[in-house]
Amino acid sequence: MSRFTDLRGRASVFAVGLLLSTAVVGLTGAMNAEAGTLSKVAFGKTPDGKTVDLYVLQNGRITVKISTYGAIITSIEVPDRDGKLDDVVLGFDDLTGYLGKHPYFGATVGRVANRVAKGKFTLNGHEYTLATNNGPNALHGGLKGFDKVVWKAEELESGDGPSVRLSYTSPDGEEGYPGNLSVSILFTVTADDKLKIEYAAETDKATPVNLSNHSYFNLGGKNSDTIRDHEITLNADRYTPVDDTLIPTGEIAPVADTPYDLRKPTVIGARIDRLQNEPRGFDHNFVLNNPDGKLTLAAHVYDPKSGRVLEVSTTEPGVQFYTGNFLDGTDKGKGGVAYKQHQAICLETQHFPDSINHPSFPNTVLEPGKKFSQTTVYTFSTR
Ligand code: BGC
Repeated sequence: MSRFTDLRGRASVFAVGLLLSTAVVGLTGAMNAEAGTLSKVAFGKTPDGKTVDLYVLQNGRITVKISTYGAIITSIEVPDRDGKLDDVVLGFDDLTGYLGKHPYFGATVGRVANRVAKGKFTLNGHEYTLATNNGPNALHGGLKGFDKVVWKAEELESGDGPSVRLSYTSPDGEEGYPGNLSVSILFTVTADDKLKIEYAAETDKATPVNLSNHSYFNLGGKNSDTIRDHEITLNADRYTPVDDTLIPTGEIAPVADTPYDLRKPTVIGARIDRLQNEPRGFDHNFVLNNPDGKLTLAAHVYDPKSGRVLEVSTTEPGVQFYTGNFLDGTDKGKGGVAYKQHQAICLETQHFPDSINHPSFPNTVLEPGKKFSQTTVYTFSTR
């Protein structure tokens, strides 16, 4: 069975319009492109002595840094409308920050991104138990998920631009999951200002797999302390309502006539003020209008102050739109800045939360002999 069941969503005029605008931005970028470069710098060592490197991918305008610890995106520098560069993701200045406790800044999350209810699931008649690290539930792969292991790196020059491939084999039973799972992730910075992430995985036993990246974006750059003034558009007619532990109820509800209707450009802060949840803000999985699993526009974000635009396209059926509701000043990030509530947004392209316990959701079980793949593309531009 395909990993994408036939959840039908009608591609809206909005999606077509934005896809066209992506193409136009891409062309403009390509014309200005300079040659891409790839370099590696030492980032430090883990407490058990493993060497960690930082890969720096550049195309002459944008620079992306990726750590072999956690396959973490530590920095994305992009120009504003006046050409001024700034870093648009939250994180830390050094490896020590990432080795400590933090809410997945820039990290690759897996083996199963998002929540598994009560840390339990049954597969092929066997009940599996995972560590519960988020109230009663399991979150983002467990106590030592893919964000906390050192990945092997291979430098590549793909036709698209400088690339690094990170690989990791998660052993059978790791964090309670069945099967040896080999994962590889190809990060590429293209000449037309895209950061492309291509995930692949294979297993020797059936296992749930859901891989995502947990970057926290603030398009205003390092000194911007809120995303309330950013505008968001999501290509989603439906979302998955949750209980008070953020586990989907199983319902797939229309966004029409609710505060979750983000199909037209919407100022995030004003919309957060219409929500009732605590801590207040978006932390919801949106069902993308992407019934065929082809690379399709999921989100468009615009920061009116800097003019920066981020577009996210994905092959995945869902995106967790999270507005940093749990940031409360305890995480001191780059430059010692204490990250506050609503200082950033995450757009975690993914299968739906707790899919393994919801047979009606798109399937997350990877069988031996099959290949898992997911592609997500972040396009940066200005207006
Ligand atoms: C979750 C949030 C969580 C955050 C950091 C998001 O994917 O939906 O509830 O606080 O990750 O762990």
